[in-house]
Amino acid sequence: MSRPRRHSWLIALLTLVVGLGWAAGKWTPLAKDGVHDPDSPAIGVLQEPAEALSTLPPDTAGNQVLWMRALDEGHIQPRTNILPETQVNLRLTDVLLKNTGEMPLVLFPHRQHTAWLDCSNCHDQLFERKAGATRINMFLILQGEKCGLCHGAVSFPLTECLRCHSVTRDSALARTFGKSLVLDRTPPGPTR
Ligand code: HEC
Ligand code: HEC
Ligand code: HEC
Repeated sequence: MSRPRRHSWLIALLTLVVGLGWAAGKWTPLAKDGVHDPDSPAIGVLQEPAEALSTLPPDTAGNQVLWMRALDEGHIQPRTNILPETQVNLRLTDVLLKNTGEMPLVLFPHRQHTAWLDCSNCHDQLFERKAGATRINMFLILQGEKCGLCHGAVSFPLTECLRCHSVTRDSALARTFGKSLVLDRTPPGPTR
């Protein structure tokens, strides 16, 4: 009776230790990040990334936070403006990008981007305001252009292929687009 019990305690303890070790290794402490001076008096005063990020919805890639969920579920409330006249301007369309070779199609969601970014961050320097009009490809992206300006830098990394290549050809979602490259996601509301 006591033997298997002790055994399960041991397993629980090991799981905890391994789990904690893994969690601690996820975020580099400020003193070791190669950016902050380890001898600076600010070390120990500034909040450590692990303390700030470990309470947010976990991800398995990048900086280990699912930022879209953190925002949508209200775990974070980013300041919307520096200048008082700045407005958050949501756009609620999805754009289907189809030049993906053997890979599933790419779905570019405007809502998720305009929740953080202004139109002018992308238009019209990076992307045309016309679906299918911009020359985008993986070579450019891997060089840090187009989507790669942010993905792999400040947003989820390029190793997460299927987060962009998320629409299987001939799937129900692909069919929802029909012949169009744009799908309006504005929720149906009362007609005014
Ligand atoms: C993160 C970058 C990004 C931001 C921010 C962004 N867009 Fe776009 N937009 C795109 C991309 C990518 C496309 C597709 C371009 C293509 O297919 O050539 C697109 C396409 C469009 C299109 C054509 C398809 C459609 O949805 O009707 C319009 C219009 C447009 N954007 C307007 C806007 C407006 C207005 C805003 C701000 C409220 C905005 N965009 C913010 C990246 C962005
Ligand atoms: C940040 C979004 C994003 C991620 C992550 C991403 N792709 Fe792409 N990929 C694109 C876009 C956008 C295109 C161009 C689609 C278009 O213009 O119609 C593309 C195009 C492609 C193409 C078509 C040929 C070419 O060179 O453009 C292939 C193949 C491809 N991606 C493979 C991958 C693989 C494999 C991964 C993961 C290692 C990956 N992609 C990750 C967005 C992404
Ligand atoms: C100006 C910066 C910027 C550019 C350019 C950009 N993105 Fe993003 N993207 C973000 C940010 C910020 C997020 C939210 C944080 C995250 O998920 O990492 C995001 C999230 C996403 C998501 C996840 C949405 C969700 O519901 O979780 C997808 C898919 C995506 N981007 C695809 C693309 C594709 C495809 C392109 C190029 C056509 C692109 N992005 C270009 C900044 C950018």
